[in-house]
Amino acid sequence: MPGLPIRAALPSDGAFLADMMVEAATWRAGAVRPRHEILSSEEYRRYLAGWLRPGDAGFVAESPGGEPIGAAWYRMLPRDEPGFGWVGTGVPELIIGVRPVWRAHGVGRALLQRLAEHARAQGFARISLSVERENYAVSLYRSEGFAVVRRGIGRDVMVKRLR
Ligand SMILES: CC(C)(COP(=O)(O)OP(=O)(O)OC[C@H]1O[C@@H](n2cnc3c(N)ncnc32)[C@H](O)[C@@H]1OP(=O)(O)O)[C@@H](O)C(=O)NCCC(=O)NCCS
Repeated sequence: MPGLPIRAALPSDGAFLADMMVEAATWRAGAVRPRHEILSSEEYRRYLAGWLRPGDAGFVAESPGGEPIGAAWYRMLPRDEPGFGWVGTGVPELIIGVRPVWRAHGVGRALLQRLAEHARAQGFARISLSVERENYAVSLYRSEGFAVVRRGIGRDVMVKRLR
């Protein structure tokens, strides 16, 4: 939605980012995985543990009333604790989610663009993500310059070159 404010994510946004990570993990209609199970799972916990630590960056979109409605952030995960979208040391991996009622109004694209710009300004050459192939988010990522670099079982790793 044009004009909605986007601000840098703060240490105090950890709980909201967790909500958005749950949205990302349960994007499929009817997904039933409980929130606490997602947040405590080995594979998701690593995207937020200790937020905001050095090297992390993120942005939060807000409603006109100042409520957080979406977030995109990245983190650099080590080789021995990789994320789903890990492609190499020094390549940040992003997560994005928008509250259901605010979707399809351009918030996700605006967050993605802001995060990619930030990563470029920080000197990163690439940024990566992982997405299930059936998720319509794939078309958003493609249109923002991400390309599939690794195909997995039902899920792809995509990378955007920043320079
Ligand atoms: C994916 C997500 C972050 C996109 O945010 P959003 O604010 O809804 O997206 P935007 O409104 O900026 O739309 C961007 C593009 O996504 C696609 N898109 C958005 N909503 C769509 C829908 N309901 N059906 C199909 N495509 C859709 C379109 O390509 C759209 O581009 P267009 O408007 O130029 O046609 C958001 O929908 C979301 O939180 N989904 C659940 C969590 C998730 O799947 N996260 C990503 C995991 S990898």
